[in-house]
Parts: sequence; C-alpha cells; structure tokens
Amino acid sequence: MKLAVVYDSITGNTKKAAEWIVEGMNEVEDAEAMAFSIHEADEAFLKESRGIVIGSPSYMAQLTPDMHSWIMSESGKLGFGGKLGGAFATEQYTHGGGDLVLQSILTMEMVSGMICYSGGNSLGVPYIHLGPVAVNDNKEKHNGLEYYRENFVIFGKRFAKKAVELGNR
Ligand SMILES: Cc1cc2nc3c(=O)[nH]c(=O)nc-3n(C[C@H](O)[C@H](O)[C@H](O)COP(=O)(O)O)c2cc1C
Repeated sequence: MKLAVVYDSITGNTKKAAEWIVEGMNEVEDAEAMAFSIHEADEAFLKESRGIVIGSPSYMAQLTPDMHSWIMSESGKLGFGGKLGGAFATEQYTHGGGDLVLQSILTMEMVSGMICYSGGNSLGVPYIHLGPVAVNDNKEKHNGLEYYRENFVIFGKRFAKKAVELGNR
C-alpha cells in the first residue's frame, strides 16, 4: 500500500521530519512510503496513495503560503477525498504555533474529504496529540530536531498501521 508524506521546507528541517515519518511507515508490513517536496511531488504516486501526511514549518504560526496554495490547488486533482490524512510541523520556538499549523492542515484535509488520523492518546506514550511537532535549535539551544526524532518515527508507524488495517477491511 502506497503512503506519501508531502512537505514544504526551505532550510531542511521539515524535510528531515518527513523522512523520519517515512522511516516509521516503512517498518509496517505492506506499506510502501515515500516523501516528496511539494515542488517535486510525484503525482501518480500521490494519486495511488491510500494515505497522505502533510507537513509544514510554522510561518507566523501558519502553514507556509506555498503549502496553503499547494493543498488548495492539488487536493482535488490528486483525489484527497477518502484518503487517510495526517499532519506534522516544525518550528523554532516551543510556543511557535506548531499546533496551529497542524490544525490548519487537518482542517484543509477535512474540507478535502480526507479521514484524519494521529493515533492521539489512544495508543499511549508518546501521546501524539494532533500530530508530531519538532522544535529546532535556531533560538532555543536546549532544543533540537533530533530530540523529537522518535515521535516522528512512531507517528509514521502508527499512521501506516491504521492505513493498512483500514485498507484490509
Ligand atoms: C517567514 C518565516 C516565519 C517563521 N515564523 C515562525 C513562527 O511563527 N514560529 C516559529 O516557531 N518559527 C517560525 N519560523 C521558523 C521556522 O518555522 C523553522 O525554522 C522551521 O523549522 C523551518 O523549517 P524548514 O527548515 O523545513 O524550512 C519562521 C521562519 C520563517 C522563514
């Protein structure tokens, strides 16, 4: 089952986070996951994907304008309706708006007809609420992307397990 992780990333943090999610997804039997920048997305792969996870850096506590436009213009063409949807974000401040970015992405996914999934607290520790968020160490030297790596891998695994489970019903 194909699964895609799509991101916007200028300085590489969100790309790295996307790759961690893909790593977790590919640990699940029957999952074939790939990550794509919105600027180089494989249309055929995305159309065939049973689930799509979308990630963006926080830009003034919003998803990036490019990601916003991409979802608006591509969601219909790529057949988002009925697919499983997820969200993730990176930011440079602990309170830099990552959760708001997730809410915006999930809202756009819902409007597109996607079935949104994070696993939430139903799967125990780590309690991944709306989706994984990583804080980089640009401004907070006690923080760093690597610190959040495991959450992204686990999220990818949980998302893929759910996609495979739903796909096999
Ligand atoms: C225009 C702009 C606005 C940003 N706004 C925020 C913000 O509101 N909150 C925050 O925590 N980080 C903010 N950042 C920092 C990025 O979210 C952060 O560095 C992110 O990890 C960058 O992702 P990338 O490496 O994938 O491009 C902003 C960065 C830019 C360029």
